[in-house]
Amino acid sequence: MADDTTDTKSSNQMWGGRFASGPDAIMEEINASIGFDKKLFAQDIRGSIAHATMLAHQGIISADDKDKIVHGLNTILSEIESGNFEFSRQLEDIHMNVEARLATLIGPAAGRLHTARSRNDQVALDFRLWVKEELEKTERMLTGLIAAFLDRAEEHAESVMPGFTHLQTAQPVTFGHHCMAYVEMFGRDRARVRHAIEHLDESPIGAAALAGTGYPIDRHMTAKALGFREPTRNSIDTVSDRDFAIEFLSIAAIAGMHLSRLAEEIVIWSTPQFGFVRLSDAFSTGSSIMPQKKNPDAAELVRAKTGRINGSLVALLTIMKGLPLAYSKDMQEDKEQVFDAAESLELAIAAMTGMVLDMTVNTARMKAAAGSGYSTATDLADWLVREAGLPFRDAHHVTGRAVALAESKGCDLAELPLSDLQAIHADITDKVYDVLTVEASVASRKSFGGTAPSEVRRQIAFWRARN
Ligand code: ARG
Repeated sequence: MADDTTDTKSSNQMWGGRFASGPDAIMEEINASIGFDKKLFAQDIRGSIAHATMLAHQGIISADDKDKIVHGLNTILSEIESGNFEFSRQLEDIHMNVEARLATLIGPAAGRLHTARSRNDQVALDFRLWVKEELEKTERMLTGLIAAFLDRAEEHAESVMPGFTHLQTAQPVTFGHHCMAYVEMFGRDRARVRHAIEHLDESPIGAAALAGTGYPIDRHMTAKALGFREPTRNSIDTVSDRDFAIEFLSIAAIAGMHLSRLAEEIVIWSTPQFGFVRLSDAFSTGSSIMPQKKNPDAAELVRAKTGRINGSLVALLTIMKGLPLAYSKDMQEDKEQVFDAAESLELAIAAMTGMVLDMTVNTARMKAAAGSGYSTATDLADWLVREAGLPFRDAHHVTGRAVALAESKGCDLAELPLSDLQAIHADITDKVYDVLTVEASVASRKSFGGTAPSEVRRQIAFWRARN
């Protein structure tokens, strides 16, 4: 701690003893992390309170000193929360900013807080606590997005739209079924989040610099006090592990990829050419020059945020890949990647949840498009297999001829007269028209996970019960 002999201007208060002159401006700039790690203040203080309480319980510091430390830390917490705390870059990071202020507030007792710990396990703790809370928040936000999709899916369990492969009209599906595809994706993301929380639920504090400590600490006590399942088992790994941050970024990247695909679909669907959905004014903007335009900016920005998140994942993987065990200062660069990705992900989920709830679905446009492009051709082939006993390959060929005829006449399959169809295959009867409509096509696809409204409703019930 700073004492009377330390010149705080020319050498660092915390480790300045060894250094004759202070870090020059560039060193201070490259070394300091307070600009971003002040975000960890609440976790840092919570961790220190748990640590001091354990030290006193184990008889390593006195109860009196512990009381002073806890009181001082709570004062600092309210100072920071109310904006009455002056962060100093000379003090490098959040850990030393808090500890230096504690010394000013309570005097020499502050110097006992750092017994049996190092900034290496301290930062591992603070960051883990932060990532854990962020994952819990992500889980809640994904649940909100899933709920939004479940409501839209229920509303549109019968609304027919074209299903696509290669972005070419393939077979009719329902908009409800399409919504449920996103429920599956975000449901998997949420499962990954839950798994990651379970994975990181180990307390790093007490690993000290890297080798553990000779003080009789109780790591199970601090783990419990901080809401972790148990302490980490290897002190070297503990201070050199950033898997929890990389897992967060991986999950964010996968969820971001899903959000971006949804964003892309919304961009396509909201074009005048498609006209499947109309975004509310809240999630679109006008053009400054073309008055007729309504641009899906929020969806486009969600698509772009995904690029940032991917960048953060690659950055942290790259930062970590060459590091020898245990801690290296490189690891200080982990936080901005995670903070930036977390902010992007939160915004993207919030924006998509808003868009999904707000957008107007044009069921008439969807239905008209669903019937175009001979989307019921497979239904005709299936009818020939079922009712006329044709092998599927032959039915496929007969259907191909019917499509070619309809194309040459410029009409839909359902508009071909029976005589035309019978000229292609004599066993076709007027019953075939029952399957040539998009509604009949959709209703027939009752296989497990299929697009029939009854099946979509079953999927919705499954997910409602799962929440
Ligand atoms: N600011 C540092 C970080 O974010 C804290 C740990 C510093 N440890 C050390 N041995 N210099 O990683």
